[in-house]
Amino acid sequence: MWPNRFFIENASRYDGQIVRIQGWVYHKRSSGKIKFLMIRDGTGIMQGILLKGECGDQALLDFERLTQESSIEITGKIRKEPRSPGGFEVGVQTLRVVQLAETYPITPKEHGVEFLMAHRHLWVRSTRQWAALRVRSTVMHSLSHFFEENGFIRFDSPILTPSACEGTSTLFSTQYFDERAYLTQSGQLYGEVGAMAFGKIYVFGPTFRAEKSKTRKHLTEFWMVEPEVAYADLEDTMVLGERLIEYLVQTVLSQRSAELEILQRDLRKLEAIRAPFPRISYDEGLKILVKRGVGILWGEDLGAPHESALGDEFGKPVFLHHMPSQIKSFYFKQVDSIGGPGVMGTGKYALGCDLIAPDGYGEIIGGGQREESTEVLRARIQENGLKEEDYSWYLDLRRFGSVPHAGFGLGAERVVAWLTGIEHVRESIPFPRMLNTLRP
Ligand code: 4AD
Ligand code: MG
Repeated sequence: MWPNRFFIENASRYDGQIVRIQGWVYHKRSSGKIKFLMIRDGTGIMQGILLKGECGDQALLDFERLTQESSIEITGKIRKEPRSPGGFEVGVQTLRVVQLAETYPITPKEHGVEFLMAHRHLWVRSTRQWAALRVRSTVMHSLSHFFEENGFIRFDSPILTPSACEGTSTLFSTQYFDERAYLTQSGQLYGEVGAMAFGKIYVFGPTFRAEKSKTRKHLTEFWMVEPEVAYADLEDTMVLGERLIEYLVQTVLSQRSAELEILQRDLRKLEAIRAPFPRISYDEGLKILVKRGVGILWGEDLGAPHESALGDEFGKPVFLHHMPSQIKSFYFKQVDSIGGPGVMGTGKYALGCDLIAPDGYGEIIGGGQREESTEVLRARIQENGLKEEDYSWYLDLRRFGSVPHAGFGLGAERVVAWLTGIEHVRESIPFPRMLNTLRP
């Protein structure tokens, strides 16, 4: 039973002992009189050896019947074997077939992505997928852990909302009794409520964007952690963001090195990720883009080639700040000049900061400082064509004890993709939702 059950990942504690392994056939082969059985139990893969004399005749007969992914229970003795994954193997004594699997659709040969995506419910058993999702589990836990350790209060925001946070073009809408509701794009506005009540909070949950883009970075449903801090500014936000990233990298390196090895991640690159990260203004960024042959006009947003170029320039995550106001959401505090005085209204630059990951993984953090004046914010809501009555509660935060405040959102799947080195975010979540992907 569970607390005392044997799991392959703990095999080193059982050297010389007889154990029971409950799992599935990964693959099998025979070599002369020795039969090799690769068994996976969800926590790892171990080599089993069947030898006449060491195991019963029935086990040898049953071995012949086994198909890929058949569920089996074996008992046997754990012993050191450097050639087995994990350094231990099991000398099988008994074998019980729990269910003989039908012909398994995913074989060791190459399959196309479309086929694999259609079989995502089985694909997650494959070693690379398994490794990536174990890294994800650690990232998700570490995201909460970091904030809890630093005194942030978890402040859950609703998924069904009446209004937009990140522009009206990517809203998923649904009928909510007699009115329209939208799936949340970001918990930020609610997070700001929390910051005024608790000082520092984090929102952590699924968020939704009706993104029609087919890129390696876009999901329509993704998980975002969003810290929000009262009496904080743009610089404080960047410091918090880089500390969080450094913590995630170090935790994954220490707890999931075996998985990173399966994924053939270049560990030296990750080990070199240490805060502080370089910070460049959007204007400085444009100069680098021109130098690298991918210049854009002032006021344009960065696309994939531009983010890749900045990643190549620095080789580690880099903060881009002070973006043109016109490409940022309504809630950003704006200034007229970089490093200008603190009294500001409507200006050329938004006090935003995006953290761009290296190697083309794109923006992994987006955030900044919020507008704290009721009048300015009310005007912005109007300029953006948003309905003031939907944001009256949000404006109340400015009417009742407004303070400078800032925060960011970190997209968990993009971070997992970058840390694991997998090419596409679709493999960093168990069931990706994308344009044309709703099943399984
Ligand atoms: O830059 P975004 O849109 O910022 C916000 O939503 C803010 N309201 C967050 C805040 O300040 N509290 O999104 C934040 C992050 C991005 O940097 C990216 O990592 C991720 O969310 N993200 C996506 N991840 C996967 N697929 C998508 N379609 C994503 N859109 C954003
Ligand atoms: Mg962004």
